Amino acid sequence: MANHPTATLVTGANSGMGRETALGLARAGRDVVATVRDETKAAAFRASFPEPSRLVGVETLELGDLASVRAAAARLIAAGRVFDTIILNAGVMTPPYRRTVDGYESQFQANYLGHALLFRLLDEAGLVARDAKVISVSSLSGEKGRASSVAEFEALAKVGESDYDAMRSYRESKLAQTLWSRELHERHGERLRSYAVHPGVVNTNLFYRAGGPFYKALMQPAAWLGYLTGFLSTPRRGASTVLSLALGDERRSGLYWASKKPRKPNPLVEDAALRAALWDWTTRATS
Ligand SMILES: NC(=O)c1ccc[n+]([C@@H]2O[C@H](COP(=O)([O-])OP(=O)(O)OC[C@H]3O[C@@H](n4cnc5c(N)ncnc54)[C@H](OP(=O)(O)O)[C@@H]3O)[C@@H](O)[C@H]2O)c1
Repeated sequence: MANHPTATLVTGANSGMGRETALGLARAGRDVVATVRDETKAAAFRASFPEPSRLVGVETLELGDLASVRAAAARLIAAGRVFDTIILNAGVMTPPYRRTVDGYESQFQANYLGHALLFRLLDEAGLVARDAKVISVSSLSGEKGRASSVAEFEALAKVGESDYDAMRSYRESKLAQTLWSRELHERHGERLRSYAVHPGVVNTNLFYRAGGPFYKALMQPAAWLGYLTGFLSTPRRGASTVLSLALGDERRSGLYWASKKPRKPNPLVEDAALRAALWDWTTRATS
């Protein structure tokens, strides 16, 4: 893929930290390819992006549908840009129970399985540049994840409505993402850099989706209290660790980051057998 133009890919770029990340990259002179869920959001995103000359692509990607992931990957492959940085940012937290068309619990698929497939397809097509940075936006919640076998992850991926614990599914999807990020380093650290990031507690739509715009407006005074006490960050601040890794030259791959520093991950991340087994199961589950 020599002589192909390079760009940075950001998933979930229309909202919250994804938007700030895309903006920060563009302002730093990077060419950005953004993914958003559908054409309506793509048009709105293009129209509202303050650095249009750096926005070299907007792709539709619904992570909750593996066919959509494959279709987005196919379009990205056809576009021929090689990615020097891939930011797996899109995510959803504690939605009402839903099983995807692929048969998986929706947040486990959106936060984890969909991103793993997207990366694999781009990598197999040679679209991941040599020495690329792959940044997985994980979460503090994942530090408390407890799934310690592939059987447990598989049960979470296929959980039924009556056994659904929304917070548990979020937590374990973020643990899966952190395990994957480390395993990516173990398997491919000689040709790319992999980082997992906890961005902080950040005032974004992640917390308001269920309640809608009225609930969001109602909560904003509390958000200001959060900013003042330092408990809560703005989306711009929340994007800062991801941006510092994306724009800097951090050589330590395979670590978990928060506040621009390495942070001790969930101890399960050190379990090499678990990581390898989850990676292999994930490949089968998304094939
Ligand atoms: N906010 C926090 O305190 C916090 C803390 C720790 C980790 N995180 C992580 O940070 C990341 C960014 O979240 P945020 O806080 O910036 O929230 P956000 O404003 O809600 O942004 C989430 C983005 O992900 C997209 N998305 C959600 N489900 C998707 C799906 N099935 N397919 C494709 N795209 C999907 C959303 O698209 P739509 O706009 O179309 O829904 C949106 O663009 C997430 O991975 C989240 O888990 C956030």
